[in-house]
Amino acid sequence: MTAGPVDYDAELTRYDPVLRRAWAVQPHDRVLDVGCGAGRTTRTAARLARAGSALGVDVSAPAIERARGLALAEGLGNVTFERADAQAHPFAQGRFDLAISRFGTMFFDDPVAAFGNIGRALRPAGRLVMLVWQAAERNEWDVVIREALAEPGGPAVVAGDGPDAFSLADPATVAAVLRAAGFADIVLTDVGQPVYYGPDPTAALDWIGRFAVTKNLLERLDPAAAARALARLRDALAARTTDGGVWFDSRAWIVTARRR
Ligand SMILES: C[S@@+](CC[C@H](N)C(=O)[O-])C[C@H]1O[C@@H](n2cnc3c(N)ncnc32)[C@H](O)[C@@H]1O
Repeated sequence: MTAGPVDYDAELTRYDPVLRRAWAVQPHDRVLDVGCGAGRTTRTAARLARAGSALGVDVSAPAIERARGLALAEGLGNVTFERADAQAHPFAQGRFDLAISRFGTMFFDDPVAAFGNIGRALRPAGRLVMLVWQAAERNEWDVVIREALAEPGGPAVVAGDGPDAFSLADPATVAAVLRAAGFADIVLTDVGQPVYYGPDPTAALDWIGRFAVTKNLLERLDPAAAARALARLRDALAARTTDGGVWFDSRAWIVTARRR
């Protein structure tokens, strides 16, 4: 991939085949995609569940609107989207065979309640297959962003309040949460793939500038310090640019579990 606008689908393109293998969607499966965003994974699951269906849910109304538009444009008849908080939405019990998520399950206020709710939406022995980030220090993209945004010789840049993309990075925490929520056969598989940030430093900076982590960190700086931080980030991106664009290493867990 060397050109074209960056979006989350482009960033994560290398994870696509890994996820399809892990989902192992069956033709009649009824699939729930949790925190589906613009619905790329929902649409992929719907194509694999050719005699079944896929529902994508997300708390973001603009994301659901975009997901509906993309599914319509692709003429998919077995995919639907609902704006819903997966933690509390009253899904019909046992409605789904498989719940999937690509980085959409790390932001719940109450993870045990949320996974309990998702579990009730699954039939008994229904499967959960989710992709979550491993620890920040194992993700080069996060390390580079934080190092670039820190003033040289100043304190390290640490996470502030707000959504924590790394909340399910600890395997023991994941296992405890899922067990408490009614899941069994919990397995975490280590996966690493490069993530794509754009064809050049300008595109990569534009994409990274939209990340919550970047916005939160820059908001804490005065304008002059923010400008210096952005210049350091641009330099770091330029140093990583290859003929194929800007790529960073990343590590994630594929978490699989079964509803008891
Ligand atoms: C990092 S994005 C991933 C989007 C999508 N899974 C993808 O791979 O393109 C996380 C998504 O989770 C959604 N989200 C966060 N909390 C949620 C909740 N409680 N219920 C449903 N969606 C949620 C966000 O709105 C966001 O679209």
